[in-house]
Order: sequence, then C-alpha cells, then structure tokens
Amino acid sequence: MTTRINPSILAADFANLEHELGRIASADLVHVDVMDNHFVPNLTFGPQMVGRLQEVSPIPLDVHLMISDVDRWAPGYAELGAFSVTFHAEATDEPVALARRLREIGARAGIALKPGTDVEPYLELLPEFDQVLVMTVEPGFGGQSFMAETMPKLERLSRVVRETDLDVWLQVDGGISLDTIGIAADAGADTFVAGSAVFGADVPAERIIALRDAAIAHRH
Ligand code: DX5
Ligand code: ZN
Repeated sequence: MTTRINPSILAADFANLEHELGRIASADLVHVDVMDNHFVPNLTFGPQMVGRLQEVSPIPLDVHLMISDVDRWAPGYAELGAFSVTFHAEATDEPVALARRLREIGARAGIALKPGTDVEPYLELLPEFDQVLVMTVEPGFGGQSFMAETMPKLERLSRVVRETDLDVWLQVDGGISLDTIGIAADAGADTFVAGSAVFGADVPAERIIALRDAAIAHRH
C-alpha cells in the first residue's frame, strides 16, 4: 500500500502560489480546494486559476470540488489536465455518469462524503471510482479540528476495498496533523490531505515527510 500526502494549497500564500509549490517538493499530489460560496460558505478559485496551476505545478493536481452543479462544472477540470477530480456525493444525482465522464476525459474520478453523509449507498458504486474522500471536518475552511466520529466510515470502506480487491484510494481531508494522522491511517486511509499542518510548518517539505512516516508507522 502506498501512503500519499497531499498538501492543501488552501493554507498557502495565495499571492505566491508558484513559490509555495516549490516548498512542497516531497508531496505526492497538490490538493486544490475549489469552493463556490454556494455548496460551502466560502469562495476560493475556479477553472482559470486551476488551469494556471496545472501549467506551472511540477506535482500533479488533486482537485477537490466543493461546488454545486458538478455535472456541469467537473468535466472542465478534467479537461484542463487535473490528475484527479473529486466531487461531492451531495452535489449530484448522477455520480456514476459523472465519474465515467471524468475517466473518459482521462482524470481519476473521486467522490467525497461530508461527515454526515452515510457511506452505505455508495459501497456498490466503488468500482466506478478511483478515490473516496471521507471528509474529517465540515467542508469549507482550513484549520478545523479532526472529527474522529467519521472513522467508522473509513473502516467500512477499507474493509470493502480489501475484500473486493479494488484499487480505490481512501482519502481523508480536514484536521490532519502529526497528532491525528495515525488515527486515520489505523482506520484504513492511504491518502492524506493536510493544509495548515504542512504550510504552517517552518519547512513544509520536511513536515510532509514526517506526516508520511507517522502514517506508515500506523497502517496495518
Ligand atoms: C476543507 C478543505 C481542506 C482544507 C484542510 O474544506 O477541503 O482541504 O484545506 O485544511 P486543514 O488541513 O488545515 O484542516
Ligand atoms: Zn479539500
């Protein structure tokens, strides 16, 4: 099992994003939080900004769409070359059709679940996805506290993925730090988003390595 650390640029200096990308060279993917001030009460950036990041980033992009109307907007992020595009289950009635469209364009397809969203209805859809993102905070803002009560969802997913031998990455996002990453790794996560824990460190590239080591020490 590979352990991935994806720093979230939500916690980076928005006026110096290219420079910030240079500080996270040890990252596996760059997590890009797209928010529309509708699906979540916060606003970040859209396709033009992500397109520019795609052009300058030496690290592939892991786009997390916290937006409504994903059927309309998500394919555009795949078309501009994002490695992975994750949309929220709560934002579409046609998750399978959208995942197929994203894969057809050439991106990995991810589905995200808010803390209150039940995982059961999505278990049978797992072959359609390359990643499931279990939100460990309410989406919208960085710097919130990790919600351990979401871990049973991860344990359930991890069991199903192992039993069915699927190649689906299990991602966690929100409140991941040196103190909490082991809890998520124990529950079966293999892909960890960290914003403030990475960009709040003096040397982000070293913090990424420390987070990866901590996760590896815990995984089973
Ligand atoms: C929250 C975003 C996260 C956020 C995580 O809605 O999806 O990616 O950047 O930030 P931290 O790691 O600070 O909780
Ligand atoms: Zn995110």
